[in-house]
Amino acid sequence: MQAALRIQSVQSPIIPVVAELIRQNPGTISLGQGVVNYGPPPEAAAQIQRFLADPENHKYKPVVGCPELLEAFEKKLNTENGISLGDTSRLVITAGSNMGFMNALLAITDPGDEIILQTPYYFNHEMAITMANCRPVLVPTDDNYQLQLQLIRQAITPRTRAIVTISPNNPTGAVYPEPALREVNTMCRERGLYHIHDEAYEYFVYDGAKHFSPGSMSGAGAHTISLFSLSKAYGFASWRIGAMVLPATLLDAVRKIQDTILICPPVISQFAAVGALQAGASYCREQLRGIAEVRELVKRELESMAEFCEVPPAAGAFYFLLRLRTDLNSMVLAEQLIREHRVAVIPGTAFGLEAGCHLRVAYGALQRATAAEGIGRLVEGLKRLKG
Ligand SMILES: Cc1ncc(COP(=O)(O)O)c(C=O)c1O
Repeated sequence: MQAALRIQSVQSPIIPVVAELIRQNPGTISLGQGVVNYGPPPEAAAQIQRFLADPENHKYKPVVGCPELLEAFEKKLNTENGISLGDTSRLVITAGSNMGFMNALLAITDPGDEIILQTPYYFNHEMAITMANCRPVLVPTDDNYQLQLQLIRQAITPRTRAIVTISPNNPTGAVYPEPALREVNTMCRERGLYHIHDEAYEYFVYDGAKHFSPGSMSGAGAHTISLFSLSKAYGFASWRIGAMVLPATLLDAVRKIQDTILICPPVISQFAAVGALQAGASYCREQLRGIAEVRELVKRELESMAEFCEVPPAAGAFYFLLRLRTDLNSMVLAEQLIREHRVAVIPGTAFGLEAGCHLRVAYGALQRATAAEGIGRLVEGLKRLKG
């Protein structure tokens, strides 16, 4: 018996494929997975004792999240993002922002509806759309991986339900300027679409780039779905805590979905998240200094291959998406780099880039010395390719 066609048509997740190749080639340094090199702050661990002290905490809790975390997150949204819930918006705690995206999709689409994604896309977004029996409509970004507003506008059809943006971006590291995000949000309001905006990397900006939350625009609440995550900012990837701000009119739908899939976000993780938010954004910003140093090192090394490896500007997240002058398929090249040079990166094909050869380099997970060794191997491997 086979799985349904609906799920067979979904691409296989790339991270486990690369992880298996790494396992088969011991000693490989991974510039693959998008995670940070630090864990949660001590304030998060301290909350675990408080969780364990009350036996009531082992029972199911509210579908949309525990009041204490909702309150702390609402405060964060007010002070950091300029988002106030008011009458039009609601806040739901999710088991990570991937779940927030799926909640949003199931709440707003019928089978056959279209969702506009920018390419290169974040693979789990594309997979979720296909899984929901909808159609991802792919709009290319420009040579600097920035939004092409005119192309987005042209891609809207009567079946379009939402436009998705991610800034700072995975896989490109691009940070979209405030005017571009405002324009997308206004386009959505005018055309009766939702704007789904993923802010998982909100604190990860460099070189003076500024993060902007379109959910803060006046009148945005009724059509904007903003997705947040503690995974990167607080070293919380395995704890599975995120949040979504959504139009109040969608709350009942999202309640049904989350109740069915999750019942409630893991309560022990919600306690830890309260602690993380007590530590606040300064925790992440402190860690960011080390990541920014690794970024400089990686950037310098990559620039040494400028004649055959283009590195478009990436002022955010912890990625560079390289554009290589070669006819090789990016998956073939990624495999070759692991087997022959013991360094892992993610091929551009995983992000919907079929033309050309692209590789995503993730630098958030490594200490400086390992990053230097890893990037050295990558440069060596790519230079050989050229020779
Ligand atoms: C753009 C983007 N959104 C969401 C996620 C997943 O976040 P979470 O762990 O909160 O589900 C990632 C993880 O890499 C990401 O890059």
